[in-house]
Amino acid sequence: MNILRTKPINADVQKDSGLKRCLSALDLTILGIGAIIGAGIFVLTGVAAATHAGPAIMVSFVIAGFACAFAALSYAELAAMIGGCGSAYGYSYAGFGEILAWIIGWDLILEYSVATSAVAIGWSSYVNNALKAMGIQLPIELVHSPVEGGLINLPAAGIILFLAILLALGVHHSARFNTVMVVIKLLAISIFIGVGASHIDVANWQPFAPFGWPGIASGAAIIFFAYIGFDAVSTAAEEAKNPRRDLPIGILGSLIVCTLIYMAVAAILTGIVPYQSLNSPSPVADALLRLGHRWAAGFVAAGAIAGLTTVMLVLYYGLTRIILSISRDGLLPLAFSRVNSHTQTPVRLILASGLCMSMIAGFTPIGDVAELVNIGTLAAFVTVCAGVLMLRYTRPDLHRPFKTPLMPFIPLLGILFCLYLMASLPFITWIRFAIWLAFGIIVYFAYSYRHSELQPKR
Ligand code: ALA
Repeated sequence: MNILRTKPINADVQKDSGLKRCLSALDLTILGIGAIIGAGIFVLTGVAAATHAGPAIMVSFVIAGFACAFAALSYAELAAMIGGCGSAYGYSYAGFGEILAWIIGWDLILEYSVATSAVAIGWSSYVNNALKAMGIQLPIELVHSPVEGGLINLPAAGIILFLAILLALGVHHSARFNTVMVVIKLLAISIFIGVGASHIDVANWQPFAPFGWPGIASGAAIIFFAYIGFDAVSTAAEEAKNPRRDLPIGILGSLIVCTLIYMAVAAILTGIVPYQSLNSPSPVADALLRLGHRWAAGFVAAGAIAGLTTVMLVLYYGLTRIILSISRDGLLPLAFSRVNSHTQTPVRLILASGLCMSMIAGFTPIGDVAELVNIGTLAAFVTVCAGVLMLRYTRPDLHRPFKTPLMPFIPLLGILFCLYLMASLPFITWIRFAIWLAFGIIVYFAYSYRHSELQPKR
């Protein structure tokens, strides 16, 4: 058996994948911002500040931001050099061999599908609250999964099906919808920053770190979720007009914009109300309500709904491109890799995966295991950083349109930061992650190895 066989570098770049090349550097940056700003800042910051880090959540944001910056610089090098819509899966296939690529691909499927389904549940409760505020009450059975005593979480299942149709229609339509929603969420955040900045009371920043360093570290591991998404830009490699130049711009540009926004929001949020009061699923809007700004709170809630929508849209998009890439290599059934010639999207795959995720969002409390997304993403980041190091050593000859600076420190620091954040996650998350990967290894030996395109044909 040769489970370490590698795929030739640039194999996907030369092929015409049937996907439509229509995304510019700006589109890619907006795609990244679409995937990044969402539940992390609008929902998780509250719990992370109230029960983990206190006002030092700002420091947690800096730590998670550094881990992402190191990883993003590594992604930028591999995305421009290797390309292909498989992202970390594809880079691992070129660098480390099939089995590791499969494990990372399997890991990415977990990351993107759990994130999309979990964010759909958060979206549903935001929408439900907005409807209630307008005097519309949905029956309780239709907003809770059977596990929570209801029948189905209908809004959560419904939004995923809506996004499935949008994605199937074409990447151009999806990108346009994404841009409108990103503008709404950026407006909402600007309003929060504008209104909140004048209410900062430095007394709220005392004590700064009530839970000490362990609280700051576990806070960083939680709000790492807020940064996830810039990696999804790399899955657009085959739909970018000029991937070698524009992928690094999209990856790094979206991360820089969002990091600056997060620093400002974290500082203002903990400066305008006591950190203990942030323990709510909608901390940003609630903080404004406490200050008596009802209209601004309403805007922020609308921005959160728009934000969660784009996160789902782009992560779902990324999921389909990764599965497309895996199935094109034969490791998952080839039928998934069929691209519709009219819409130039993998329609079958979009609908099948949308149906699965809408069932998960509608019928299970998937939000309870959302930290799996963090561990999965961190594992992918470690692999990408290691991939940069290894390929610089084994393939120094390759053309690198973007080079990670300060080699080997940036990827090494990326590995260290990401491992540290992984270690700060609860043990139960590790167990769940290990079970998912073990299941993946069984699938590999039962199906993928034999069906791989690299398997010699008899
Ligand atoms: N970064 C994305 C969010 O916060 C996943 O929702």
